[in-house]
Amino acid sequence: MKALLQKLTETASPSGFEDKIRDLIRSEISAVTSSVKVDTLGNLIVTIGEKTVKGMRVMVAAHMDEIGLMVSHVEKNGLVRFTNIGAIFPRYLSGNRAIFLNGVTGCINNDRPDDLTKIQSIEKYFIDIGATSDKDCPVKIGDVAAIERGFVDLGKRVVSKSLDNRSSCAVLIETIQNIKNTPHELVFVFSAQEEVGVRGAQTAAYDIDADLGLAIDVTPTGDILGVKMQVSLGNGPAIKVRDQGMISDPRVVRWIEETARKNKIPYQMEVLEVGSTDARIMQVSKAGMFTGAVSIPCRYVHSPSEMVDMDDLNNTVKLLSALLSNPILLK
Ligand code: CO
Ligand code: ZN
Repeated sequence: MKALLQKLTETASPSGFEDKIRDLIRSEISAVTSSVKVDTLGNLIVTIGEKTVKGMRVMVAAHMDEIGLMVSHVEKNGLVRFTNIGAIFPRYLSGNRAIFLNGVTGCINNDRPDDLTKIQSIEKYFIDIGATSDKDCPVKIGDVAAIERGFVDLGKRVVSKSLDNRSSCAVLIETIQNIKNTPHELVFVFSAQEEVGVRGAQTAAYDIDADLGLAIDVTPTGDILGVKMQVSLGNGPAIKVRDQGMISDPRVVRWIEETARKNKIPYQMEVLEVGSTDARIMQVSKAGMFTGAVSIPCRYVHSPSEMVDMDDLNNTVKLLSALLSNPILLK
């Protein structure tokens, strides 16, 4: 799992430019199934099993895109100005490095502010790729970069950029490999463009028209100072009750909770005040679907050094495998 996670997190694929991560995920699951397709928006869709009388069509989504940077203009002196792809927090930028999809790498810094105690807005930041003028600059308007930051193995816990949401991608890949029998038609979606407003999941949900939907994504934790939230790293997958964009179907919440309890898998309940996931759009697609979400606790979300606990990932694989291998009773 760690080796897989390292490969996934060290791949640069911001929203709308998911080619590299999609190819990698496709190669990881090619041994298990050939029922794989890519739709117009670039979602990777993997189908397993057939819907029996005891079964449902279930959509399980994990977004594969990551936040990133897009060139807005190049200064005469060769410094590259950029705008955000998804929720980039300027306070995490300076001193980091960016890698463009064509391999060009640069360091990120900002104009010297009048007030050193204030965090500046994104227009004040730039990427210095070592060009001496706009004439010899190897990137142009519209080019895309991801944050460049290696994977660090701390033992039980690991640190990397894009653990949002490559940790869920790793979990989904292992779940697909794990499931031997199912009464359901399981449609796994590695979705595109989540970070810019759940756009991939929107078209996928419409096309798949499932009976039940689950999104797998990270959620912030409340186990660092100054954060009010009851989710902790290492305490198990979090069953989403509510976030900013969705109220989970209470019947789905009970089903997940009972399955976790029956299989002695640790879990916690999640109430998230800011942020949402693919589940938001799945719930209201077409005539709607029964929807819930399972979250992987993650510290420092949307920073270049996010942290997850490997036990949480392994327990999420166990939970999803149990949920998707048995008949679903909603009550
Ligand atoms: Co995110
Ligand atoms: Zn995410």
